[in-house]
Amino acid sequence: MSTKKTAIPTDFQITAPIHQTAYLVDGELREWKGATSEVYSTISSTSEYQPTLLGSIPDMAEAEAMEALDAALKAYDKGKGVWPTMHVKDRIESMEKFVKQMETKREEIVKLLMWEIGKSLPDSQKEFDRTVEYIYDTIEEYKQLDRNSAKFQKHDGVYAHVKRGPLGVVLCLGPYNYPLNETFALLIPAIIMGNTAIFKPAKHGVLLITPLLEAFQNSFPKGVINILFGRGRAVAAPIMQTGKVDVLALIGNSKSANALQNQHPKSNRLRLVLGLEAKNPAIVLPDADMKLTVDEVVAGTTSFNGQRCTALKVVYVQNGAKDVFLQKFAMAIDGLKFGNPWDEGVKLTPLPEPGKPDYIQELIDDALAKGAEIVNKKGGQRFDNYIWPAILYPVTKDMRVYQEEQFGPVIPVLSFEDIEEPLDDMAESNYGQQVSLFGKDVYTLSPLIDTLVNLVCRVNLNSSCQRGPDVYPFTGRKDSAQATLSVHDALRSFSIRTFVAFKDNELNNETIQQLLEAKLSNFVSTDYIL
Ligand code: G3H
Repeated sequence: MSTKKTAIPTDFQITAPIHQTAYLVDGELREWKGATSEVYSTISSTSEYQPTLLGSIPDMAEAEAMEALDAALKAYDKGKGVWPTMHVKDRIESMEKFVKQMETKREEIVKLLMWEIGKSLPDSQKEFDRTVEYIYDTIEEYKQLDRNSAKFQKHDGVYAHVKRGPLGVVLCLGPYNYPLNETFALLIPAIIMGNTAIFKPAKHGVLLITPLLEAFQNSFPKGVINILFGRGRAVAAPIMQTGKVDVLALIGNSKSANALQNQHPKSNRLRLVLGLEAKNPAIVLPDADMKLTVDEVVAGTTSFNGQRCTALKVVYVQNGAKDVFLQKFAMAIDGLKFGNPWDEGVKLTPLPEPGKPDYIQELIDDALAKGAEIVNKKGGQRFDNYIWPAILYPVTKDMRVYQEEQFGPVIPVLSFEDIEEPLDDMAESNYGQQVSLFGKDVYTLSPLIDTLVNLVCRVNLNSSCQRGPDVYPFTGRKDSAQATLSVHDALRSFSIRTFVAFKDNELNNETIQQLLEAKLSNFVSTDYIL
């Protein structure tokens, strides 16, 4: 079956492929003359289906990885560099310069988000706007953090001026499902806290970074941010093997995170800021408001085709609610609109990974062979670049769709009699990010909430799982995360408390007084940043 082709609006047509040859190292946009990889979209531009060539990107290797690492190390300069010692207000100015230029690139980036990863127009716009807002919120939060520490405290005759300082060189790797937002949710706090960084875009959503290279180049001192292209294995692994990286910041899966951290020879030097995979369950109790529940579970399982770490990836329904839930849920899923990202009202869009429909098909076939059925009529229908979300029931623990993080359009459903069943499964699971709990009776909900908060890190009551608003802590237990990200927490995750202390005596008090008056130190400062 092939997709019904819709005309591509003029603004979104690909007129000429982007052949990206520049990469940013040591403040220079260097010209790449080596091998390149072509970038294709799984969206077709012609009525006969064929992937669209979007352009090409450099295929870099160890030599360039080492150039970038050296530049980041030089910019940090053992903590003596211009950037790590800069006054907070000057670092903020650089960030403001960057974000202002970034705002002018909205159209270009939104268009590439749609083509590269198949995200719908409203969601692509939201990803861009949310990222810009995240940067402004980070700036405000950093000012507040700095204001709160613009003071001295005294205990047992010892004064202390405590602030947060950078950790060093950060290797930053983002995911393909939020190639802009989640990457920047790592990169921006990392840089603003005074670290220097090497950043490699994800496997999809690479070209959309290129409109920002110049802004990165002209906003920050040389070597503070270095941007490479290529495969993680070729670029990130050699950087880790040197043992010179202080922070691995990665949003992706735990296998890549483990593989990379294991390459680092000095495990105590390496800090980890990781947002990893999850298998967030929805638990539907018999007294749940069915309309609201179905709406939220549809959004939770299908937004961006289930390619979100926070997506609902398994649904537990208590027996009393099972029939009505499955019937309404199946109708709602089959009522969604599939189309290209710019199509009006579209909810399901092409999958950016060419092999994904086949992988989802394997999960479906395995479940069917082990006794599940497809509940919805359209479930499993194949398109050139898509497979319709199949609701599978009854799912059992021996099925791959129960065990694996599907990260795509397929929805396993299990029914239960005793609430201990989903709780036991969650306790056994390797993941522990979030849960959605649907029900009304407070006597049932209270003990459940009290348990669930200890199994995951966010209990969403009658609401689908999600990361935002970005001021809230985003983290997880077990294989789902290390460290916490939010506008506030990310600043902490990418820094460490460090301070100047001195005994209360005449010499020290006089020296500190002079230091403050001369305004020579960027660290010892009680300036209030407006
Ligand atoms: O891929 C995981 C993302 O953090 C999910 O974020 O809940 O805003 O879609 P979201």
